Amino acid sequence: MSVTAVDEDPTTQARESDWAVETHNLTKRFGASVAVNGVDLKVPRGCAFGYLGPNGAGKTTTIGILTTRVRATAGRAVVAGADVGVAAVTVRQRIGVVPQRPNPDRSLSVLDNLVFHAAYFGIAHSRATARAHALLEQFDIDDRAEAKVDELSGGQQQRLMIARALIHEPRVIFLDEPTVGLDPQARRSLWDILRDLHAQGRTIVMTTHYMEEADRLCERLAIVDEGRLLALDTPASLRARAPGGTLVELTLDGDAGPAAEQAKTVPHVTGVSVRDGVLRVYSDRGGQVIPALIDLVQSGGRTVNNINLAAPSLETLFLSLTGRKLE
Ligand SMILES: Nc1ncnc2c1ncn2[C@@H]1O[C@H](COP(=O)(O)OP(=O)(O)OP(=O)(O)O)[C@@H](O)[C@H]1O
Ligand SMILES: [Mg+2]
Repeated sequence: MSVTAVDEDPTTQARESDWAVETHNLTKRFGASVAVNGVDLKVPRGCAFGYLGPNGAGKTTTIGILTTRVRATAGRAVVAGADVGVAAVTVRQRIGVVPQRPNPDRSLSVLDNLVFHAAYFGIAHSRATARAHALLEQFDIDDRAEAKVDELSGGQQQRLMIARALIHEPRVIFLDEPTVGLDPQARRSLWDILRDLHAQGRTIVMTTHYMEEADRLCERLAIVDEGRLLALDTPASLRARAPGGTLVELTLDGDAGPAAEQAKTVPHVTGVSVRDGVLRVYSDRGGQVIPALIDLVQSGGRTVNNINLAAPSLETLFLSLTGRKLE
């Protein structure tokens, strides 16, 4: 007789890991295009973590893999101590997800959206109802408990999605662009909610387009573009890595390539990059380099349509890494 007494799920043994999320070479291809490209990521437990990247960077796809909605093409991800590829049910029990597009059940009341969701996790009806009311109260929508979802404002619906993500007391919460489309007041109130969740010791993983939001809320930030992880550090350390000097940005009426070559020879220019007719120059003398830059652009037969100056910041680091603006 063979002995097969060990039925412990080997993928959940990393339960006491220091990492809420750990990925190795995480990769997702859609046909020929690579949405997530060999990402190695570690998110400490209890961390507020931001995933920053422009449109199409692969943020939603990455969150999709980490939350078991999308299957990776290659690589591995362990979330809240369980492997998403082989223990998806365990992962789902330990995480809450606020998707990029709110997807409440619009045929149900606000309250029932929470109670029905709790049922998926085997939470008894009476306990689910009590917890749902507590969450609705916490998020200031308990007076709308019996309303249909469509009767809520955008900000209220977003808070309902967060309440739903929390109904089973998950350890890790994923939020994909949680404040897009919210007015400034609703955005601030959501920030307060996220700070409270973080103070309770939960791990928060959020994607955002908003540098200010990432900087205010997150202890660690990943900068991604075209599926690749370009930088991963604290906001302060990332800021310290921003290219020195002022960023001088000139928008030309055509190809900025030839001007870029010449710009490198201008005194006090410390770095040059070019993308889509925009010439970006780093200067250790602020805007003093501008006349020389305009001269060389004009002598190349082009016109400067716009000039922009920016001090070193997360935004200028992002630009230097991706060649693109975040917002
Ligand atoms: N189901 C799919 N089929 C084919 N391609 C896809 C699919 N989902 C995503 N992609 C592609 O993968 C890339 C990454 O998309 P993803 O939605 O992850 O980016 P994102 O960073 O979340 O962008 P956004 O800021 O616009 O939400 C894009 O090029 C997108 O077109
Ligand atoms: Mg997205």
